Amino acid sequence: MNSIVKSFSEHGTFVQPDTLDYILSKDNPEEFTSFITKSLKEFPLVLTVDHIKSVEQVETAKETPEPTPASVMEKKELQTKVLSDIYGDKPPYRPSEDNDLEYDDPDKEDQIELPLQETPKEEMPNLIKIEKVKGWNPKSKEYTSQINIIKDVTGGSTCEGTTSDFTKLFKDRYDVLRKILRNQRRELANAVPINKVKSGAMREIQLIGIVNDVRTTVNGHRLIKLEDETGEAVCIALKNKRDVLQMSGEVILDEIVGIRGQLSKNGDLIVIQSIVFPDISIQNEKHRAKEPLCAAFLSDIHMGSKNFMEKEWQAFLRWINGDMGNSRQKDVAGRIKYLVVPGDVVDGIGIYPGQEEELAITDVYRQYEALAEQFQLIPDHISILIQPGNHDAVRPAEPQPTFEKEIQNLFSSNDITFVGNPCYFSLDGVEVLSYHGQSLLDFATNIQSLKYNEPVEIMKVMLRKRHLAPTYGGYTPLAPEHSDYMVIDRVPDIFVTGHVHLATIGDYRGVTLINASSWQEQTSYQKMLNFVPDSAKLPIVNLKTGNVTMMDFNKK
Ligand SMILES: [Fe+2]
Repeated sequence: MNSIVKSFSEHGTFVQPDTLDYILSKDNPEEFTSFITKSLKEFPLVLTVDHIKSVEQVETAKETPEPTPASVMEKKELQTKVLSDIYGDKPPYRPSEDNDLEYDDPDKEDQIELPLQETPKEEMPNLIKIEKVKGWNPKSKEYTSQINIIKDVTGGSTCEGTTSDFTKLFKDRYDVLRKILRNQRRELANAVPINKVKSGAMREIQLIGIVNDVRTTVNGHRLIKLEDETGEAVCIALKNKRDVLQMSGEVILDEIVGIRGQLSKNGDLIVIQSIVFPDISIQNEKHRAKEPLCAAFLSDIHMGSKNFMEKEWQAFLRWINGDMGNSRQKDVAGRIKYLVVPGDVVDGIGIYPGQEEELAITDVYRQYEALAEQFQLIPDHISILIQPGNHDAVRPAEPQPTFEKEIQNLFSSNDITFVGNPCYFSLDGVEVLSYHGQSLLDFATNIQSLKYNEPVEIMKVMLRKRHLAPTYGGYTPLAPEHSDYMVIDRVPDIFVTGHVHLATIGDYRGVTLINASSWQEQTSYQKMLNFVPDSAKLPIVNLKTGNVTMMDFNKK
């Protein structure tokens, strides 16, 4: 499998997981890979199944010989057979001279019946009528919004997908995280370059490097191969050292870690004493808004899906317009100044096999139009920030720059800031790291103790590693930007993800962690996986106090 990924990465091309599955489904995947690499005219940044299928089609067409007279004859025979099946044994009808068609009567209807044109059925969600609620004066209307974009790849993408781009990406990741490890972790204050280890007989060794291999040996020890710009070191977590072995279970490919250890007797291994993750400090300076305003987090709307929760969505719209809820709930609605939408705003098309069966709107552009229509019902004084997810119509490789102008223009009647994925921004001075969260699945797959349905626990690990998606070649396609936008180089006040359709709130060392629910009922795919989403909920943070509440719009 690695050799297949490598064959494409040599051309600067990423292979999407489903593309890899498609290649592996072939009788001889290696041979098939070399056929594809030879046949591709251009190497795309991200190789999709469609790319491969179009190559296969072109090549098959080349191999199909021009029809020979014999094959034309065969075709003819086939046609005759089909016609005789239609007409039975009788010859096809031919008008004779005395059975002339009646052209002379202009009143006679002679309309040829055309087959009914099949128009695709679309089920646009209904637009409810929002009337101004008497006596409802939202507090947040009195304030102007203060949004500051701190870090976003939008407009700054540099990658072309070449091998040297990857080198730059990993170098940048290493430089930023080494600095954090050296400056903030006392245990690594004496870290040395890897090539210095072999030359001297040092007792305790401190190293910082990128993990380029990690595996469990047949004897149950864990091997970690660490690399820096000077060399490689093989480190071992012995199975009888429980705490070290447990820590080593959290180490994943391509992340930057520090290792403290001792050189083995024969000098070829470093026996690990502890593993140091960059982490965030216990005490972090918190930013708070001066005004009593709130930010709400509304993820994974999946507009266009048959499972879009229209009734619950309408309840949300009524509430945010002051037309629903008790007095406390209405007070909260009136304090919402910001609405953050962390991706999968539409269901998209061609995202997974058989998706068309589950779409109410089959045109992705119409999906965005439908969403824009619904967003017009959100009060004007609320500022909305939208970022893309893996279902949206932007490049799939992360970091994802924001939506094309054509899509942005559909939303011109709202106050919307379009940002990339991930993105750091501040709302009234409160810093938010918003990331759709595709890599949550990679973390849950690669670290045994983590579960896909416990996103907040995974987000804590992301903060410990100070990275959103370290591993190349997993479920998350990564673009080799020259600067690593997936590094958590700032400690946010709020860290929000979506993607797993759960409504969870947590805290790690003072950082508020949120997984921001969804507006899609359980899909057949989720049902197959026995996954129950926690949809139609809205986590809300009071930016002045830091308190978090959750509004529930589910039908009771
Ligand atoms: Fe989603």
